[in-house]
Amino acid sequence: MDILSRVRRLREEEDSLKWEGTFAEYLQIIKERPEVAQTAHSRVYNMIKSSGVEERDGKKMYHFFGKEIFGLESALERLVEEYFHPAARRLDVRKRILLLMGPVSGGKSTIVTLLKRGLEQYSRTDEGAVYAIKGCPMHEDPLHLIPQHLREDFYKEFGIRIEGSLSPLNTMRLEQDYGGRIEDVKIERIFFSEDRRVGIGTFTPSDPKSQDIADLTGSIDFSTIAEFGSESDPRAYRFDGELNKANRGMMEFQEMLKLDEKFLWHLLSLTQEGNFKAGRFALISADELIVAHTNETEYRAFISNKKNEALHSRIIVMPIPYNLKVREEERIYEKMIRESDMAHVHIAPHALRAAAIFSVLTRLETPKKQGIDLIKKMKLYDGENVEGFNSVDVQDLKNEYPNEGMNGIDPRYIINRISSAIIRKEVPSINALDVLRSLKDGLNQHASISDEDREKYMNYIAVARKEYDEIAKNEVQKAFVYSYEESAKHLMNNYLDNVEAFCNKNKLRDPITGEEMNPDEKLMRSIEEQIGVSENAKRAFREEILIRLSAFARKGKRFDYNSHERLREAIQKKLFADLKDVVKITTSSKTPDEAQLKKINEVVARLIDEHGYDSNSANELLRYVGSLLNR
Ligand SMILES: Nc1ncnc2c1ncn2[C@@H]1O[C@H](COP(=O)(O)OP(=O)(O)OP(=O)(O)O)[C@@H](O)[C@H]1O
Ligand SMILES: [Mg+2]
Repeated sequence: MDILSRVRRLREEEDSLKWEGTFAEYLQIIKERPEVAQTAHSRVYNMIKSSGVEERDGKKMYHFFGKEIFGLESALERLVEEYFHPAARRLDVRKRILLLMGPVSGGKSTIVTLLKRGLEQYSRTDEGAVYAIKGCPMHEDPLHLIPQHLREDFYKEFGIRIEGSLSPLNTMRLEQDYGGRIEDVKIERIFFSEDRRVGIGTFTPSDPKSQDIADLTGSIDFSTIAEFGSESDPRAYRFDGELNKANRGMMEFQEMLKLDEKFLWHLLSLTQEGNFKAGRFALISADELIVAHTNETEYRAFISNKKNEALHSRIIVMPIPYNLKVREEERIYEKMIRESDMAHVHIAPHALRAAAIFSVLTRLETPKKQGIDLIKKMKLYDGENVEGFNSVDVQDLKNEYPNEGMNGIDPRYIINRISSAIIRKEVPSINALDVLRSLKDGLNQHASISDEDREKYMNYIAVARKEYDEIAKNEVQKAFVYSYEESAKHLMNNYLDNVEAFCNKNKLRDPITGEEMNPDEKLMRSIEEQIGVSENAKRAFREEILIRLSAFARKGKRFDYNSHERLREAIQKKLFADLKDVVKITTSSKTPDEAQLKKINEVVARLIDEHGYDSNSANELLRYVGSLLNR
C-alpha cells in the first residue's frame, strides 16, 4: 500500500472514532461502560495492565515496558505496584508527584515517553476512551457538570465518584449557552496527543530568571479585556499552560528540581488538592498524573535543603537504576544501534557482549558473600549457572546492596565509543577488540571519572577482554569440528557407557566385533583430567554421574550433554584439546598449504553461515585466536 492511501486510512480510522453528543447521551455511555469515567491515574494503570502481565519466578513482568526497557523488571514492578496500582484505586499516593530518580541515561525519559505514547494510543481504544466538555480548552471532565449536592445520589446510581468542581469558564458557558440545562451541554470524545496538546503536557525549566508561571498555568489575554470588560472574566483567560493542557492525562516535568520554588508550589496544590490557581479566579480542578525525573545528586541536594521539606513529603521517589544483566545490556545496545545511523555496520558477534560485561562490572558493588567475586556475581545476575551457587544466593547478593546500580558507566557512553570505533575503521565491520580498545581510549579522555575509578575501569576492560578471549577460542574451535554438537554427544555417550560398565563392574561389548572388553580407562581419564578430577576422586565422580543419570531416567528426562555442567565442560575441553594443535597451526600459519587453506575457508564459511560473522570479522577472529593459542 502506498503511503498516501495509508495516511487516508489512518484518517478514516480516526474519523470513525469521533463521537459527539449531549451530556444526557454521555450518561448513557458511562452507565454501560463506567471505565470511561475513570481518573487519569486509573487510566494509566489500566493501560499498563492491558498490554499483559506475566509472572516469572514470583516477579511480575509488565509487557507494556518490555519492548523498550530491558533488565529493569524489579524497578518497574515496584513502580507499578507501589505507585500506579494504589493511585488507580484513589489511595493517597496519587496525591504525590511521582519522581523517577536514577543515574544518567538509565532509561528514565524512555519510561516517561513510553507512558505518553501509550496514553495516546490507549485513548483511541474502547477501554481507554476519554470524553470531555466540548470546546473546553482544558477538556474538562463532563461529570463536573453534576452539582455538588447531587453527587452522593449520582454515586448511588452510577457507582462513580466525582472529584473537582466545574471551572469558571464552563460555569459561565453553562449559563450563557445552555441556559443552565446541564443535559444539553455538548460532550465530545477526545484523543490524547502531545503534539496537539491534548491530555499530555511537558515542561522543561528554562533559565530561572525568565521562567514564566504562565507557561504552566495559562495567563490573562489582555487583548480581550476590552471585549469582556474585566480581567476576572474567565473568557479573558487563556487556559493554555502545560498544566491546563495535560488535564485528564499526564504531565511530564523534566528537571523538576531545577524549577523555581513558586512553580513547585503550584504542583503541590495540584497534586494534593487536585486543583491549582490560575489568574484572578477560583481554583481550577485538574486530574492529571505528574511525573518528574532527576538524578541522585540533584535529588540529594534538594532534600538537604530544609526549605523543601513540605515538597519532599509530597513526592514519591522511585529509583530507576541501571540494568545489571549482561544479556539485557546487550539488548539495550542492539536497540540503540538499530535506532542510530550505525545500523548498517556489521557488528561481530560478542562485540556488544564484551562492552556489556565491562559496563555491568562498573555498576556492580563488590560482593561480601564468601567465595563470590565480582565476575561470578555478574554471571549469577545474568542467570548463568555458577558451580556451587543457586537462586537463593542471587537473592542474598541483591539484598547486600538494595540500592545497587545507581553508579557506573551509562549505555549512551558505550554507544558513543562504539560509534567512534566505527569511524576509525575503514571497513564497516567492527569486533569486540575494536570496541574494547575504543572504550579504553575513551576512559583516558573522560573528564568526569576519578583516577581511582579509571584504574578500576581499566581493570574491568581487561576482565572483559579475558572473557571475550574464552568466547573467541570456543567459537573457533567449535567451528573447526565438522559438527560440534554431534561430536560432543558422541564422545559423551561413549564416556557414559564406559562409566556405567566401570561402576557396575561390567564388560562392554565392542559394537563392531561383538567382542567383550574392559571399560576404557584411558578414555575416561583423558576426559576427567580436563576438569581436574584426580585419580583418587575418579570413582566418586563417576558414581555421582551415574546417580544423576538415574535421577534423570526416573523423572523421564533425557540426560544429554548439557545436563551436567562439569561433564559438559570436560567434554568440550577434551574435544578442543584434541584439536588444539590443528587449530593452532592452521590459524597461525603465515603460508598455509593447500589442506590448511581448505580448512580455513571451511571454518570461515561456517563462522559466517552459522555464527553470524561477516568475512572480515571471521578472518579477524581466526587471526586473533591463532595468536592467543600461540602465546
Ligand atoms: N534499561 C534500559 N532498557 C532499554 N534502554 C535503555 C535502558 N537504559 C537506558 N536505555 C537507553 O539509553 C538511552 C538513554 O536513556 P534515557 O534518555 O531514557 O535516560 P535518562 O535516564 O532519561 O537519562 P538522563 O538522566 O540523561 O536524562 C536511551 O536510548 C534508552 O533507550
Ligand atoms: Mg532523560
